[in-house]
Amino acid sequence: MENFPVINMEKLNGEERKATMEIINDACENWGFFELVNHGIPHDLMNTVERLTKEHYKKCLEQRFKELVASNALEGVKAEITDMDWESTFFLRHLPVSNISEVPDLNDEYRRVMKEFAKRLETLAEELLDLLCENLGLEKGYLKKAFYGSKGPNFGTKVSSYPPCPQPDLIKGLRAHTDAGGLILLFQDDKVSGLQLLKDDQWIDVPPMQHSIVINLGDQLEVITNGRYKSILHRVIAQKDGNRMSIASFYNPGSDAVIYPAAALVEKEEEKKQMYPKFMFDDYMKLYAGLKFQAKEPRFEAMKAMEANPIATA
Ligand SMILES: [Fe+2]
Repeated sequence: MENFPVINMEKLNGEERKATMEIINDACENWGFFELVNHGIPHDLMNTVERLTKEHYKKCLEQRFKELVASNALEGVKAEITDMDWESTFFLRHLPVSNISEVPDLNDEYRRVMKEFAKRLETLAEELLDLLCENLGLEKGYLKKAFYGSKGPNFGTKVSSYPPCPQPDLIKGLRAHTDAGGLILLFQDDKVSGLQLLKDDQWIDVPPMQHSIVINLGDQLEVITNGRYKSILHRVIAQKDGNRMSIASFYNPGSDAVIYPAAALVEKEEEKKQMYPKFMFDDYMKLYAGLKFQAKEPRFEAMKAMEANPIATA
């Protein structure tokens, strides 16, 4: 089997830049996922994020998870559960306006550290978007601009824990889905695995690696690149041992950003016929909310139908 793509970002500054850009392009075209090392986010900041996230789960979330999920989900169940996930989560919004000061139960240090971490991730996301532009032959800043809308991107973080599960065969940590948005930056547990992606009809582990950031592409990048890059199905398998930490940050288009394939990537006549739709990001998210765990293609079709007949479907 081919190796999961790992990008050493330091190599972008030296002689190996071209080869590294090619690995990124191959990962975007064939995996929808890659893992970054030497990405510039300080390791001690990541260690602090991890420590505070794990402390916060123990102090504020574990009991709630036990009462709401662990004690009910598997009660008398024999077939696989398809309407629930074995996860404990909360969400932080950073852009366009931060809600960190309003999220309950976070101590001051945790709020401050998550703000700083988010700022670093935002910079990294924008740097990556420009690397993608370069590989795609789009002008620098094209993707950032495409995501901008009137208020800038939506940027938020889903902080998740996947506690040990007695019956991982009956419930997923997180059911298979593609991500709706743009670029996803994941700080995952370096010991407890569980994240898998679907490649050539096989589920492949995304390997835990200390201080790495896992990147994956969402549906919007598939649309903008006219399918040259694809969002890929992924899932989390619950584990019998260990509590998996997963901090996923979503660099998404602004709510009123209009998303459509970049003209430079729609050149051939046959591509024009099978083109991806044009829509406002918020409309896509409204549709996604109810269809997250279903295939993405019907979502693209629904957006096309809305584009063709905006009044009937409004
Ligand atoms: Fe996801």
